[in-house]
Amino acid sequence: MRGRRASVPFSLRTRWDARPNELAALIAEMRAAGRTLVDLTEANPTRCGLGPTEDLVARLGEPRGTTYAPDPLGHAEARAAVARYYAERGLGVEAERVALAASTSEAYGWLFKLLADRGSSVLVPAPSYPLLDLLAELEDVRLVRYPLVRQERWRIDVGAVERAIDESVRALVVVHPNNPTGSFVRRDEAQALVDIAAERGLALIVDEVFGDYAHGALGPDRLPSFVETRDALTFVLSGLSKVALLPQLKLAWIAASGPPESVAEAMRRKLLE
Ligand SMILES: Cc1ncc(COP(=O)(O)O)c(C=O)c1O
Repeated sequence: MRGRRASVPFSLRTRWDARPNELAALIAEMRAAGRTLVDLTEANPTRCGLGPTEDLVARLGEPRGTTYAPDPLGHAEARAAVARYYAERGLGVEAERVALAASTSEAYGWLFKLLADRGSSVLVPAPSYPLLDLLAELEDVRLVRYPLVRQERWRIDVGAVERAIDESVRALVVVHPNNPTGSFVRRDEAQALVDIAAERGLALIVDEVFGDYAHGALGPDRLPSFVETRDALTFVLSGLSKVALLPQLKLAWIAASGPPESVAEAMRRKLLE
């Protein structure tokens, strides 16, 4: 040690305000005071008594897990299992167009890297999943919001989407159903977004982590999933954290669909990562 000690500056993109907001502070205060709470902000399903998962966790002791067999797109058996998950829901997804990730956060990061350059923009719904801001910031991607119209059951303002598109926009994020509104995209909205994406050369990134959680049967006007999209390059995200109520297991996936040559190019680039 030669005397002077300089502090490391850290990147501007990670200079986040991590202070608890008013609600979080109030909850902490009430807990500390021993108050019994029904905490509707609890986001950890393993603390919500949503059903036993011991059985699934016990199965993780699989001896095959001791072998290291890396594949950039994920283990073939696991990708086939994802394809079966969709088949059970009447949806056609070939295992070849599934890529596994540790979490949807990681998948978002990969997709932003795949599609956007520094300073590129991505359209996202408002209101929506707050983590999108941080995920985009980490990849130097700018978010541009398009509104969901509350008075019309969170209809997507398709006109606003079209108006927001400029040269910098590379992708359009849809959260389906959306967090926190719970709204599923209508078939006519989905078609309009696919048409816009196809015409303007944009990719669709569709976060379907809550796709299994419709309140009762899904209305016929609502689209169950974007995994069968043909006309625009589409990446559907989901994962075990919500599907199996196992956030501690960390396995998510991207199911790519759309024009075959674009899907093939996306998968090829992922293989090189
Ligand atoms: C809309 C949405 N997408 C993704 C996630 C996170 O999923 P993962 O645990 O796979 O990163 C959440 C978590 O709450 C979410 O609300």
